[in-house]
Amino acid sequence: MRIFLDTASIDDIRKGAALGVVDGVTTNPSLVAREGVEYKDRVLEICQVVDGPISAECISTEVDALVEEARRVASWHPNVVVKIPMGVVGLQAIKRLSAEGIKVNTTLIFSANQALLAAKAGAAYVSPFVGRLNDAGQDGLDVIRESVAIFDTYDLQCEVLAASIRGPRDVTECALAGAHVATIPPAILQQMVNHPLTDKGIEIFLNDAKKYSAV
Ligand code: G3P
Repeated sequence: MRIFLDTASIDDIRKGAALGVVDGVTTNPSLVAREGVEYKDRVLEICQVVDGPISAECISTEVDALVEEARRVASWHPNVVVKIPMGVVGLQAIKRLSAEGIKVNTTLIFSANQALLAAKAGAAYVSPFVGRLNDAGQDGLDVIRESVAIFDTYDLQCEVLAASIRGPRDVTECALAGAHVATIPPAILQQMVNHPLTDKGIEIFLNDAKKYSAV
């Protein structure tokens, strides 16, 4: 499973990238607003740190305007994947953009039907929001599992990108459910690295290592 960082914080992206396990980055208007920067400037900074798909979200609400915005955003850097919210406008834009060879990550996916339609329109990724589905009392993993199964059954060339990840267990379960990618907040990626028993084990080994001369 590929791992993307879900943040627009360039410091957190540098730290995460240093682990050597980060394959891409996803951003959205809320994540960028949190940083107080211009979207294009930050995306270009991110492209210098992570050599992989970098999702940047488009917000126009009319089809022609959305297509034009997506073309502009896609032109920022070869690694940019334009993020487009699922919907009637979004689907029409995805159809046109994918026909032009522009990679689209369809965001705000909350059902397998939405994922199926986005894949049929030519999206490169669909992003089911696992955490928000769970917050709403549904099972976000069902959407991951169903979307993966449908894409596999019909050989749809679209990847399921698990998003809205709330904790390390979500990552495990999305991987078990067959998600192609999980986009993970930096703090959760750090949590995945650590375990109290690992820390305790290192402490014991270091203490015992004092009983023999350095190798
Ligand atoms: O990539 C989507 C993600 O940032 C949304 O997460 O926690 O706002 O549901 P959250």
